[in-house]
Amino acid sequence: MVRRNLTAAVLSGVLAVSALAGCGGNGDDAGSGSGDGGDGKITLGFSQVGAESGWRTANTKSIQESAKEAGIDLQFSDAQGKQENQISAIRNFITQKVDVIAFSPVVTSGWDAVLKEAKDADIPVILTDRAVDSQDKSLYKSFIGSDFVEEGKKAGQWLVEQSKGKPGPINIVELQGTTGSAPAIDRQKGFAEAIAADPNLKVVKSQTGDFKRADGKTVMETFLQSTPDIDVLYAHNDDMGLGAIEAIEAAGKVPGKDIQIITVDAVKDGMTALADGKINFIVECSPLLGPQLMDLVKKTNAGEEIPTRVLTEETTFTQEQAKEALPTRQY
Ligand code: AHR
Repeated sequence: MVRRNLTAAVLSGVLAVSALAGCGGNGDDAGSGSGDGGDGKITLGFSQVGAESGWRTANTKSIQESAKEAGIDLQFSDAQGKQENQISAIRNFITQKVDVIAFSPVVTSGWDAVLKEAKDADIPVILTDRAVDSQDKSLYKSFIGSDFVEEGKKAGQWLVEQSKGKPGPINIVELQGTTGSAPAIDRQKGFAEAIAADPNLKVVKSQTGDFKRADGKTVMETFLQSTPDIDVLYAHNDDMGLGAIEAIEAAGKVPGKDIQIITVDAVKDGMTALADGKINFIVECSPLLGPQLMDLVKKTNAGEEIPTRVLTEETTFTQEQAKEALPTRQY
């Protein structure tokens, strides 16, 4: 139940019944919201980045299914990759007086004003998947998601191992995620730090493919035209890697052999290409954040302290490991 309706419920005397029945709430007065309303449901306003990748689709499904299972009323908004859409969705959630707001920020910067508005309205905010660069950590309650720097490092460390004893230079092209997004910034950083261990490894081209398959393909086409001797492709997600594979094959080269390919995510399509030998290594990034998010939503709505950082556990996959994992892969 949204807080606007809750206020109406208070006026008609329903809140006393709810409170006596122990229907939760965060201990605030009705004007600033008290969580569950007469229908016993918490309302969660969630602003999603968009539908740019297989990872994102799996993440949306996880959030929608988990909300249903948890009995949480989910107000879902798709920002179509635009920060301004996310800001207006959050403002809308504030006006509706939802109980909790969660969102996966398209980019890291530019959130302070709207987060302050949510704080002033006494609505707890949980960041999912991606971080913001706000210095004031009191603007949100928790951040649940992966360590993207670590993911970049795992990708780079694998390459350093594989490249031992090989003659240099080893030319790497990099397909970056959405410019200004946490995973693009951090995966680039972690990878650069790891490959610094081997002076033979050189990133010769680096450009955004916006986490999209089509963009991965077109950017890879330009890489192939301008740089004939590409040894390795590092793509910040599976989708861009899969688009790049199409470009590599169209150029008459063999992905996974002529050009080694490392990606991040481990969605089914990526894992299939890995098992087929077209990708060489994938660093997992789990999109299944729904159950933990709903748990945090319930706790913060009940006024409980929640951890400020919830880190997602993830692994890596070689071609052999992908063959084993594929039959039971959930997404
Ligand atoms: O923020 C997570 C990233 O966003 C995923 O790795 C990518 O596929 C998605 O678009």
